Amino acid sequence: PTPSTRSLSPNPSMHYRTTHTLIVGQIYNDIILHVSHFPAEDTKLRASSTEQRIGGNCVNTCRVLTQFPKTHVWCMSAIGSKESSAGLLSELESNGIKMTTCLYRQSSMPSSYIIHNEASGSRTIISCNNTLEITLDEFIRKIEMTSLTKSIQFDFNAAPFTWVHFEGRNISEALLQIRWLETKGQKENWRSKMTISVELEKPDRQDIDLLMSNGDVVFFSKIFAQARGFNNANDFLEAVKPDCKPESTLFCTWGEYGAACLEGKTGHVEQVKAIKADSVVDSVGAGDTFIASVIYCLGQGLSATIALRVACETATQKVSQLGFDNLG
Ligand code: FRU
Repeated sequence: PTPSTRSLSPNPSMHYRTTHTLIVGQIYNDIILHVSHFPAEDTKLRASSTEQRIGGNCVNTCRVLTQFPKTHVWCMSAIGSKESSAGLLSELESNGIKMTTCLYRQSSMPSSYIIHNEASGSRTIISCNNTLEITLDEFIRKIEMTSLTKSIQFDFNAAPFTWVHFEGRNISEALLQIRWLETKGQKENWRSKMTISVELEKPDRQDIDLLMSNGDVVFFSKIFAQARGFNNANDFLEAVKPDCKPESTLFCTWGEYGAACLEGKTGHVEQVKAIKADSVVDSVGAGDTFIASVIYCLGQGLSATIALRVACETATQKVSQLGFDNLG
């Protein structure tokens, strides 16, 4: 579908809510090699083109989110030194992503080499990351600083963000960060105004399962569900529900087969088949695009079913084009 035929084409009569979203994760330098077929081991292959892009789930999600109306987006990631990060910061800021929540490190930025097989559309990602992850103290400092300096001030005692999303990484610290938000939000009476979401993408990340009982909204990947022995999203969501917070809304993507959601309050499971993309041009960040669309729709008070449909459509649009423009 083109953006104009998607379920969520801009609606002049819709009253959009202003949202303030923080995405916590890790930025990567992506080097994408477009190749005609997947190489055999220990052979040489010439790529038809290469591309460099700032990536990482958090940035990909932010890039899509900033395209939606009335959506203010902050990205929290460790990045390289102040001197080496000027280009990265100005590029992302010029895309409307607020970067004051990032943390400088002396180490170089993590990078990913991505083999995009033009024949099948698959993307194989090999990444390397030696960057120190964000600690609880750093998280608190950045949240408090942002609340004080935000140009758009919240009401007294309101939540510092309307939505905080955590990539499924840095699990022990992420759990402490979520607990800190929970405690502060309850004490100051704004917890119900903030949605916390978590992503469980990589099944073998240590302790990643501990995250699932900590999100109001939980995103699962196909490889995560498969690694737990499931071959479809619906069965997986029904099975995993007791391990999540009561009333949390769950989503599971399933590549070209679409995605499913389990609506927290009703327990209703819904599945959407993916519309077939005319051609798979660039599938890097399709899952991150799905997450951005769900965060936007639920943040606007739309139902999980609508969010699911819009997110599948936006992810399909994403794989049919290069990069992340014109997705909002
Ligand atoms: C895609 C992506 C890439 C990044 C890698 C990190 O989802 O975020 O942009 O290099 O995954 O795992």
